[in-house]
Amino acid sequence: MGEGSIRSEAIPRHIAVIMDGNGRWAEERGLARTDGHHAGVDTVRKIVRAARDLGVSWLTLFAFSSENWNRPKLEVDELMKLPEEFFESELPDAIENGIRIRMIGNRDRLPSHVLSTLDEAIEATRGNSSMRLTFALSYGGRGEIVAAVHRLLQDYDLGKLDPDSLDEDRFAEYLDHPELPDVDLLIRTGGERRVSNFLLWQLAYAEILVTDIMWPDFDREDLEAAILDYQSRERRYGKISAQVRGEGGSAS
Ligand code: FPP
Repeated sequence: MGEGSIRSEAIPRHIAVIMDGNGRWAEERGLARTDGHHAGVDTVRKIVRAARDLGVSWLTLFAFSSENWNRPKLEVDELMKLPEEFFESELPDAIENGIRIRMIGNRDRLPSHVLSTLDEAIEATRGNSSMRLTFALSYGGRGEIVAAVHRLLQDYDLGKLDPDSLDEDRFAEYLDHPELPDVDLLIRTGGERRVSNFLLWQLAYAEILVTDIMWPDFDREDLEAAILDYQSRERRYGKISAQVRGEGGSAS
């Protein structure tokens, strides 16, 4: 990981997090997996505050994937309690500190108590702009892309889309949340080296940091270390080093 202190002018604009390892954290302590998820909520509280203090503009947290519906019903039911647990204590803080709550994912499958909790938070923080905190719930990246293709085809049928005008920017307008910017830094806790169908479109140029730390143990210092590591990297977007450093780097 990088050393030194964080440069405030180079904070990643959009950090996305795959919060993995709750179950293993609990099992290692002889606790129920669901205890790990509740401990994970505490980490969400800490990391949201830390990201806000560091000046992160967009923080997107993978709280429940489309595939997580396949878990045992008891665990799914417990996971569905977490948004209420979080917002009960954190909504006042979000309102006070300019955090705007957002949600991405398939609303159709979520229970009404989850939707009403989220909608209340989204509504109460609509005017805020210091940090956008997005919860991905019942979310899958492939599903988001397929839904975009459906909308695109509808526009094509209606004669509203000229195929020749279709480029990456135009396609992105059809995503569920076109305003969600590209991810700069993806953090995955729990040690697995996978993207797990998260933000497939938006991760195209993300720097990826995998840490063995389980999500309930991840803290402010770990977030700072991840940002420091990010700041030590050179983002080349397909170019060569000399070009990025402004030294031309022509082939001749
Ligand atoms: C993956 O760990 C984690 C989840 C499926 C749930 C993540 C949710 C939270 C951390 C809290 C969400 C908070 C709000 C406010 C909605 P895992 O169970 O797969 O862990 P394992 O890989 O060790 O089994």
